[in-house]
Amino acid sequence: MVDPVKTVEEAWQGLKTLETRTLGALFEADGKRVEKLTRRLEWPSAEGETVGMRVDFSKTHLDDAALEAFETLAEASGFSYKREALFSGAIVNSTEGRPASHGAMRGSGTEADTEEAAALLARMGMLVEAIHEGVLGEVKHLIHIGIGGSALGPALAIDALTRDLAKVDVHVVSNIDGLALERAFAACDPATTLIAIASKTFTTIETMTNAASALAWLEKEGVADPSGRVVALTASPERAVEWGVDETRILPFPESVGGRYSLWSSIGFPVALAIGMEEFREFLGGARAIDTHFRETDGRANVPLLAAFADQYYARLRGCQTRAVFAYDERLALFPAYLQQLEMESNGKAVSAEGEPVDDPTAVITWGGVGTDAQHAVFQLLHQGTHLVPVDFVVSAAPGDALDPVHHRTLVLNCLAQGAALMAGKASEDAARAYPGDRPSTLFLLDDLDPATLGALIAFHEHRTFANAVLLGINPFDQFGVELGKAIAKRIDAGEGDFDPSTEAAMEAAGLR
Ligand code: F6P
Repeated sequence: MVDPVKTVEEAWQGLKTLETRTLGALFEADGKRVEKLTRRLEWPSAEGETVGMRVDFSKTHLDDAALEAFETLAEASGFSYKREALFSGAIVNSTEGRPASHGAMRGSGTEADTEEAAALLARMGMLVEAIHEGVLGEVKHLIHIGIGGSALGPALAIDALTRDLAKVDVHVVSNIDGLALERAFAACDPATTLIAIASKTFTTIETMTNAASALAWLEKEGVADPSGRVVALTASPERAVEWGVDETRILPFPESVGGRYSLWSSIGFPVALAIGMEEFREFLGGARAIDTHFRETDGRANVPLLAAFADQYYARLRGCQTRAVFAYDERLALFPAYLQQLEMESNGKAVSAEGEPVDDPTAVITWGGVGTDAQHAVFQLLHQGTHLVPVDFVVSAAPGDALDPVHHRTLVLNCLAQGAALMAGKASEDAARAYPGDRPSTLFLLDDLDPATLGALIAFHEHRTFANAVLLGINPFDQFGVELGKAIAKRIDAGEGDFDPSTEAAMEAAGLR
C-alpha cells in the first residue's frame, strides 16, 4: 500500500535504503519476475486488428520493494494531480504561463482544445488532399525546412514510414550549413517542388535563412510564382503572412504546443503529405491509445511511469549519467536523435518548477544508435567499460524488409543476445576477457512498425519524459537554456561587444573580424 503522508524527501530516503541485488539474484528470488515486469500496450491497426508492443523491464533492477517505494515517490510528487493538470489544459508550463496541449492535437484533452485541434487537422487534411489531387500543379518533392522540434519529428516519421514509395518525396533540411540545403536542391526538380517552412515562432535564424535561400532557388530556376509554392507551419501565422506566405497555405497550431511536442500538429504536414491523411490519422490514433493508458492507469501498471521509475532508479540511486537507446530497425535510425531533444531539452534543468535549485541529477544524457551496427562500434563500453549504462532495445517482431527472412531473424536474435549478454556477463581467468554482467536493459518488442505503432512509441516517450519531470519536480516544458548562445551569436554577428580572449582570437582566425 502506498503511504500518502510521505513527503518527497521521505520517499527518497525510503528509496535510498533499498537493498541492491544483482539481476541474477532478482531472477532467482522471483520465479514470476518476467510476468510481473512485462507489460503489453495495444491499439487498433489500420486493418481494424489489435496490435501493440511488449515492454519487458525484468532485466532492470526494479523489484517489488523498489516499485512500492517509487509508487510512494509518485504519490508524494503529486503525480496523479499533475497528470490530470496536463490533460485538462491547466498551466503546467509555469515559467511561460501556458498549458501543454500536445495531447489535444491527437484527441486527448479538454473538449475545447480537442475541437480546435480537429478543426486544424481538417484544414491540414484539405491542403494535403488538394496537393495529392494536383490542385497546386504537379508536386513530386517537398523541401521541409525547420529545426529542432520542427524537424526531428518529421524526419523520424518520414524515415520510419515511407520505405515503400512515399506519395511525395520529402527532404527535411534543418542545418544553417548551406550544404544541407544544397543536397536537397540536388535531389529535387524545382518545377515540381513545394517548400514548407516549419517554425513555431517563425523567427528561428536557421529556418528563416534556409527559407529565403529556398525561395531564391525557385526564383533562380525560373519557377512561376515561387511564393505560391510555399506552405507555412507555425504558431505565429501573422509573421508568416509578413514573410509573404499566402494565408490559404498557412497551417497554424496553438502556442501551447511545445516545439519538441509538435509533430502531432501541422508540423506533421510533411508526414501526412508523404504517407497520406488516413495513415496520419492512424499515427495520431496510436498516440491517443497511449494517452488513454497513461491517463487512466495508476502505479506500476502505468507503463510510461514504470519506465520513469527505472530511469530515476539508475540516475539517482545508481549514479548513471547516461541512458542508451538502440533501435534494431533501420526505420528507427533517427529515433535516438529524436529522443535526445525530447528528453534532454525537456528535463535538462537545474531548478525545480518552483525555481529552487535542484541538487540531484536531472535528465540523463540520452544517446544511442542502430543495431546491429552499434554492436560493432560502441557495445564494447557497454559490456566491459566502467560506466553502468541502462539500455533500451527497440525491435519489431515483423520485418520491414522483403528479403530472405535470415536478415530479420538475425537482427532480432542479435538484439535479444545483447540483452542476455549484458545481464549474464562471463567470468574468465583472463581479466581482459571477463564480462562483469549485471548490466540492465529494457526491451520494447513491437508487433510491427506501422503509423499507429510509431505514434504510440513516440507518445510513450513523451509521457515517460513527463513522468520523469514530475518525479524530479521540474518543469519539462520550457527551454531557456538554448537562449544565451543565440543571443551571443547575434552580438558577434552585429560586431558588438568584448568577448573572452579565446573567442576573440577564434573570431579573428575564422575571419569573422
Ligand atoms: O532553440 C530551441 C528551439 O526553440 C526548440 O525548442 C525548437 O524546437 C526549435 O528551437 C525550433 O524552434 P521554431 O519551431 O520556433 O523554429
